[in-house]
Amino acid sequence: MRRKVIAGNWKMNKDFGEVEQFFVGTNGVSFCDSIRGTKNEVIICPPFIDIAQTVRFTEGSNIHVGAQNCYFEKNGAYTGETSASMLIGANVEYVIIGHSERRQYFNETNEIVSFKVNAALKVGLKPIICVGETLKERQEGVQKQVIENQVRSSLPSISDLSNVMIAYEPIWAIGTGKTATPKDANEAIKFIRSIVKDMYDNDVANDVIILYGGSVKASNAKALFEMPDIDGGLVGGASLDPIEFAEIVNFNKKQV
Ligand code: 13P
Repeated sequence: MRRKVIAGNWKMNKDFGEVEQFFVGTNGVSFCDSIRGTKNEVIICPPFIDIAQTVRFTEGSNIHVGAQNCYFEKNGAYTGETSASMLIGANVEYVIIGHSERRQYFNETNEIVSFKVNAALKVGLKPIICVGETLKERQEGVQKQVIENQVRSSLPSISDLSNVMIAYEPIWAIGTGKTATPKDANEAIKFIRSIVKDMYDNDVANDVIILYGGSVKASNAKALFEMPDIDGGLVGGASLDPIEFAEIVNFNKKQV
């Protein structure tokens, strides 16, 4: 079911004390309280080491917890890796897969992304699959081919995408302060929907949740998230600050 989803990707940020500071808040209002009235789905994806603490702080709230990666094997001699079933055991509901930083710095290919997506779904962990083009690919005019290739090779071979989200994150917009215009972001996401329609069917394409990511801030969230094909955002830097992230989550909250 389409709904507005705001997911925070903390990347490799926040130690034990900083996680506590985020949730406790600085102005007497805890982060969970500051977003309590929202109808939007809120997801926080902390580093692995902060997951248990985040689960504890969000207990009884409307916040869902996600991880930033998982390995596709169930268990075994894979030093440093964490499996999808381990994440389920730690009360994690979502997992970001194929983020451009993982593709770029850790050599994740479309094939690895697809293995991870299938491993996650197998144990009931919901993948947020990231796709998006580099600046060079955009300038060369091949962004559509790149995105299409990523989408076609990453989406699972099951007929139901209700437990899958896609995040369109143009790499040139990540952490750069350069946001895609709402119109451009909507166009790209509409294009992704058309690929999903071709791979599955019209209903699946109309229902699948597709987020935008790349320099989302409190000041541009509303314009982006109100576009017809954009179902919300995957927010990096601006999700680290509880006040700004709450503003983004509350982008459509009616003023009283
Ligand atoms: P920024 O919001 O910091 O640009 O990061 C976006 C992102 O990569 C979210 O996954």
